[in-house]
Amino acid sequence: MRLTPGRLFWLKCALHTGFILPLFWLVWGVAVNQLGGDPVQYIIHFTGKGTLHGLMLTLLISPLSKGLKMGPLMQTRRLVGLWTFSYAVLHLLAFVSLDLLFAWSMLLTEVLKRPYLLLGMAGLLILTALALTSLKSIQRRLGAHWQRLHNWVYLVALLAPVHYLWSVKSELIEPSLYLLCCLWLLWLRRDKLLKAAFIRKVFAPQSS
Ligand code: HEM
Repeated sequence: MRLTPGRLFWLKCALHTGFILPLFWLVWGVAVNQLGGDPVQYIIHFTGKGTLHGLMLTLLISPLSKGLKMGPLMQTRRLVGLWTFSYAVLHLLAFVSLDLLFAWSMLLTEVLKRPYLLLGMAGLLILTALALTSLKSIQRRLGAHWQRLHNWVYLVALLAPVHYLWSVKSELIEPSLYLLCCLWLLWLRRDKLLKAAFIRKVFAPQSS
């Protein structure tokens, strides 16, 4: 099936809807008090899972586009990436507002005290850099550096599921499955990752 401009438009609309609807559902759940016994944990978990799903979808677009020979599919990557970043910001805001009650000064203490938060924070900082440089004009200005910077998303694909796995006390099966999915998404890019590592190995001693 060809992805015509018309179909691409509707696909983008569907993706926006897919990210917005769960947020409406969450707000509705808060309004009618339907988020279970611990709504704070529910909201933090909901936004955390949303971020992870968005991240995995972002990483799935390129292999899908190649496998299905649908080049225009790549044009949905920025949209999905920005939604992923938005969910990550909501996840942090939910933690700072509902758990820390806006005690921003406690954020640093908490992050240093709980290593899994350090991983989440590192992931969010990388996503922030990627979101800030996602504009086409910035991409053009950065040239080859842009791709190198955006390759950091592969590190987020490791940090995020480990952050999840580390945050749980029991029930390790689900987070382990997420970690496996992320590893599989990285495995699909093994040639690219190995090539980047090889180039760095060959050129690093000369540049230092
Ligand atoms: C790339 C960014 C991030 C991703 C993908 C992510 C994802 C997740 C996921 C999937 C969970 C578990 C949800 C569940 O148990 O159902 C979680 C839990 C959590 N995350 Fe994140 N997170 C990120 C960044 C952060 C940041 C920056 C913070 C705050 C500094 C944070 C704080 C938390 C907390 C407090 C929990 C709950 C842990 C608990 O159950 O006690 N996360 N996150």
